[in-house]
Amino acid sequence: MTPGEGRPDDAGGPHPVNGRRSELTLTVNGTRHTLTLDHRTTVLDLLREHLGLTGAKKGCDHGQCGACTVLVEGRRANSCLLLAVAHDGHRITTVEGLADGERLHPLQQAFLDRDALQCGYCTPGQICSAVGVLAEAADGFPSLVTPDTARSGAPVALTADEIRERMSGNLCRCGAYPRIVEAVADAAVTGAAVTGAGVTGG
Ligand code: FES
Ligand code: FES
Repeated sequence: MTPGEGRPDDAGGPHPVNGRRSELTLTVNGTRHTLTLDHRTTVLDLLREHLGLTGAKKGCDHGQCGACTVLVEGRRANSCLLLAVAHDGHRITTVEGLADGERLHPLQQAFLDRDALQCGYCTPGQICSAVGVLAEAADGFPSLVTPDTARSGAPVALTADEIRERMSGNLCRCGAYPRIVEAVADAAVTGAAVTGAGVTGG
């Protein structure tokens, strides 16, 4: 297909509008959005600049701090590294989409209960990442510190070492790490893993 040539309506994937922009549809926090975007637009900029969802933060914009973490198809990802055009048809959940009405997600509640933040800039990314961690552990994904003797595919117990390792991509310049670990451990015990695994934004 040459640049500028449109696709038939029933074709999958984004629809090129011209050589620089395409029309795509994403479901964000359960709401479908169809937008025409420059191909260089990241998912983070789509959320913040086009949809007004400013929960995900721009820290480094280089995949190094985790402040922009969201869930894509239920799995955590650094949204600053994702081109929106590559996620046509996908479901994205941001921190704004975690609560069930007035009832906070167990991880949000745990962060409050443990006072696991200071300035709060990293907190949306920490919480979204922790939702992903709990789902990954429940689904048996090993980490670097998971014992070699662990049964393949079995749920992984979230020890403090497991939480620290799995959350190591989320930096906190305020140094709230000890309480973040406590909050994630609390949520693991109270069953947030089940809730987390079900987060799809749909
Ligand atoms: S802003 Fe995406 S990892 Fe830092
Ligand atoms: S609470 Fe300030 S950066 Fe983490």
